[in-house]
Amino acid sequence: MNALRVFFYRTYQVALKGAMAFLRIPLPFLLDRVEELGAELKGKKLKHPLIVTDKGLASFPAFLILKQALDEAEITYEVYDGAVPNPTFACIEEGVKRYREAHCDALIAYGGGSPMDCAKGIAILASYPKKSLQAFKGVLHVHRKLPYLLAIPTTVGTGSEATLAAVVLNESTKDKFQIDSPRLVPNAALLDPRFVQGLPKGLIASTGMDAFTHALEAYLGRGGTKFSDKYALSALMGLHEHLYAFYEDPTSKEHAFGMQKAAYEAGVAFTRAFVGYVHALAHALGGAHGVPHGLANAVLLVPTLKKYGKSIEKKLARIAPIFDVQGQNNAESAANVLAYLEDLERKMNLPKGFKDLVKDPDLDALAKHAAKEGNPFYPVPKILTRNELKDILQEVCI
Ligand SMILES: [Fe+2]
Repeated sequence: MNALRVFFYRTYQVALKGAMAFLRIPLPFLLDRVEELGAELKGKKLKHPLIVTDKGLASFPAFLILKQALDEAEITYEVYDGAVPNPTFACIEEGVKRYREAHCDALIAYGGGSPMDCAKGIAILASYPKKSLQAFKGVLHVHRKLPYLLAIPTTVGTGSEATLAAVVLNESTKDKFQIDSPRLVPNAALLDPRFVQGLPKGLIASTGMDAFTHALEAYLGRGGTKFSDKYALSALMGLHEHLYAFYEDPTSKEHAFGMQKAAYEAGVAFTRAFVGYVHALAHALGGAHGVPHGLANAVLLVPTLKKYGKSIEKKLARIAPIFDVQGQNNAESAANVLAYLEDLERKMNLPKGFKDLVKDPDLDALAKHAAKEGNPFYPVPKILTRNELKDILQEVCI
């Protein structure tokens, strides 16, 4: 890539990192038992929350645990189960209508990334009744205090309960965009293993690899700080200890909680240190071909790390002991970490490519989309050209 362009990207990233140092990103208050929910809401003088979820989750038995805990605490609530994947303006507007009509005073997001994004969107519109979500596209456009939001993750990957972002879709313009503001970090997160015990193995594998990607991209990129590194490394330790074990035994309470904690920590890390090209490529494939996010990351992770080559060797060698794969030198340790990841994915029956999912991909368009998302915003370990990104896509799509 031309040196001037690399210089521009790197200068932008250094400036962004400097600005991030002044941004106060809160951490959510953590609860680990649903029975604590009543006291938490009452302590904040909140009386009538709106639970935001989707139809599938609302019909699962685990949802009854949440409703029962609120009933026992004598807290009345409304349920809005209209969250859809890639929450649209319409579904968020419908949710805020329910919030207002039922005179709610708090939000409980129950689900994976989509219900959380939907709840974050509802929170924004509840505080800005005269504005469209389009006005908040980008970074730091949400200034008002938002309603109290408590997040209950029901997968082990997105980390959305810790992040300052919401992804929404303007269905009339097909513009899928991100809203970033520290105001969007949930006030509290409930990591109760009962909400993820018994997840299907395929979902554990793909969402778990999403969390792995968050932790690795946050740690390997140039946006990390002491604080984000601490969380990323702790997440990697948790993922090593619990991901495969949870996949093997989805009923295990210990491993369910271990994974919830790791996914949360990875979320804390990447919302401060950003992600990288794995996510940029995964978003391109998700948008154009509907490849599920976790699965896309899982498949793209190792090919993208290999493309970073020597630029991540030292850091990979530093984390090799976490996975018990230290080699004789940095190069060997780094190769061992990549082999560890490949082996983990193979053991969890994750595919190595998208041959069955992605038909007739326009690799140039996908690479262009990923380059546009990644540059100059993501402080990646090595800036890749559009052709290099296309090579990665070629490897996994053809
Ligand atoms: Fe992700």
